[in-house]
This record gives sequence, C-alpha cells and structure tokens, in this order.
Amino acid sequence: MEKTIAVIGAGTMGAGIAHVSALHGYRVLMIDEKSGAVKNAISGIAGRLDREIEKGHITADEASVVKARLIESGWGQVSTASMAIEAVLEIMDVKKSVFARLDDLLPSGAIIATNTSSLSITELASTTHRTPLVLGMHFFNPAPVMKLIEIVRGEDTAQDTVDQAKAYAQSIGKETVVVEKDTPGFVVNRVLMPLFIEAMRIYEEGVASKEDIDKAIQLGLNHPMGPLTLADLTGLDVDLHVMDYLYNEFHDDRFAAPLVLRRLVRAGRLGRKTRHGFYAY
Ligand code: 3HC
Repeated sequence: MEKTIAVIGAGTMGAGIAHVSALHGYRVLMIDEKSGAVKNAISGIAGRLDREIEKGHITADEASVVKARLIESGWGQVSTASMAIEAVLEIMDVKKSVFARLDDLLPSGAIIATNTSSLSITELASTTHRTPLVLGMHFFNPAPVMKLIEIVRGEDTAQDTVDQAKAYAQSIGKETVVVEKDTPGFVVNRVLMPLFIEAMRIYEEGVASKEDIDKAIQLGLNHPMGPLTLADLTGLDVDLHVMDYLYNEFHDDRFAAPLVLRRLVRAGRLGRKTRHGFYAY
C-alpha cells in the first residue's frame, strides 16, 4: 500500500516536495491555509508533469497516477499520515503553531520534519510532545531536481528518526548529509549567504555589472547559475530573512545583509515571487 505523508504549505518548496514524493510513490496530503494555494500548486505540478510527458520521460498513464497521489487535504486527514513535512513561511511563530497542530493530529509514532532553511529545530520541537520524532529536512529549490536534503538533528532527535528520514530521502532519489548540531543556517546556507552577500556588495560597489558578476562565478567556478540569479530564484525576501536570522544569532558581520538587498525587498522586488529582483524578467 502507498505510504501517506502530509506536506504543510503549498508554496514553491511545499509543491516541490509534494511533486517529488508523489513521483516516487507517496500519497501526499497537501495542506495550506491560504485559499487556492493547494489548487495552484497541484496545477503547477500537473504542468511540469505534462512537460515530462512531452520530453518522453514519463508516460501519460504514469503522470495520471502521480497526479492522483496529490490530495488537497484538510487537517482532519492528517491522522492517516506516517510523516509530515512542514514548509510554511519562515517565521518561527507560524511554524510553531503548525507544529502544535500536527502534534495533536498525527498518529503517535509519526515524524514531524521541518523544511526550515535556518531556524532552530530544537525550538520548533519544543512545541510538541514528541521531541525525539522531530528533525529538520532541508530541501533545495527546485526540490524535484536538487539532489540534496540536509538532515538536521535537534537536541532530542532520536537516531531512529534520522534513519527513517534518510530512508525516505533515498526512496525519493535524494542524497543526504547529517547536520549533527542544530546551528543557524546548517551547512549550505551558512556557506551560501556569505557568497550572496559578497556578490551583492561587489555589485553595490560598482566593481562589475550584475551580469558579469554572475558570469564570473558561473564560468569561473562552474556553478550552474550566478549568485545574483540564484538569489532571485530562492527569493530575495527569503534570503534577507535568513541573513538577518544568521546575523542576530552569530552577531557576525559575515552575515550582515547588504543595503541593496534590503532596498529591493522593501520595494517589493522579491525575485522568485515577483520575477523582479536583481533581474527584471
Ligand atoms: N521543477 C521541476 N523540474 C524542474 C524545475 C522545477 N521548478 N526547474 C527545472 N527543472 C528541471 C527541468 O525540467 C530539466 O529537466 P530535464 O533535464 O530532465 O529535462 C532540468 O531541471 C534542467 O532544467 P533546465 O534545462 O530548464 O535549466 P537548467 O539546466 O539551467 O537547470 C536549474 C535549472 C536546475 C535550476 C539549474 O540552473 C541549477 O541547478 N541552479 C542552481 C540551483 C540551486 O543552487 N538551488 C539551491 C538554492 S539554495 C536553497 O534552495 C536553500 C534555501 O534555503 C535558500
């Protein structure tokens, strides 16, 4: 029988996680408080599946099976899930209220994972009565494509929970690294944010054009996309939020957000969300 998981939050990351999970045989309960968000996410996934059919990667029948595994769900159905992955807004209080609700509704042995990109797993776990069953599973954008999941231990996370998370990751074709200490930004964002910051400062200082900064890193370091393009893809509001969080936690200028980023976010130029960040598409 297909395993059922719940994905809370149907934004870019939640949709990507639902997509890759359904592709690999999971029944996915999709929940989002925002009206229409799950419908939008499902139609986006359906569109990507159609392109996969056109490319000959999957058959129309296979795509139909995958689509049927994506279920627009209410909280009531969560009791049938063996694991929940939370991918809501990167705001501690919002995530905590989702965690408390999941803790009430999920079966007693079910894992709660958060896709937070930087927040404390231990603090989120503290809102539940199942701290050994809580951990971080940090996916990367676009989730169906990116190979890595960072598995992050909270203070109380049980080894069996880590093992189950690794098994799930493997079952959806992902590689994992284990972040042993629950520290802000884990591994990837702790390295990525200073890269973004330096690229943005170089741009602010007029050292090179944004196109040439991106080209330099793309061709000079063989990155698939330059840092300013990637910052747009991840969402400038998300990037700023992560930088501010790291700065407040570490009290370290390495993580101080450049003014140009703050200006763009204040102007509503958020990259991924508005398609106008460093680049106007
Ligand atoms: N959903 C599903 N599939 C997608 C997709 C999406 N959103 N975007 C691209 N793809 C698939 C395409 O269908 C294509 O599949 P195929 O090879 O089987 O035909 C494949 O990915 C390659 O896509 P494209 O040919 O359109 O374009 P590229 O070759 O330029 O690849 C990219 C696009 C995969 C986004 C690549 O540029 C890349 O890897 N960029 C770097 C992404 C990255 O670093 N992500 C991490 C961000 S950090 C983060 O998420 C952490 C957060 O906490 C901040």
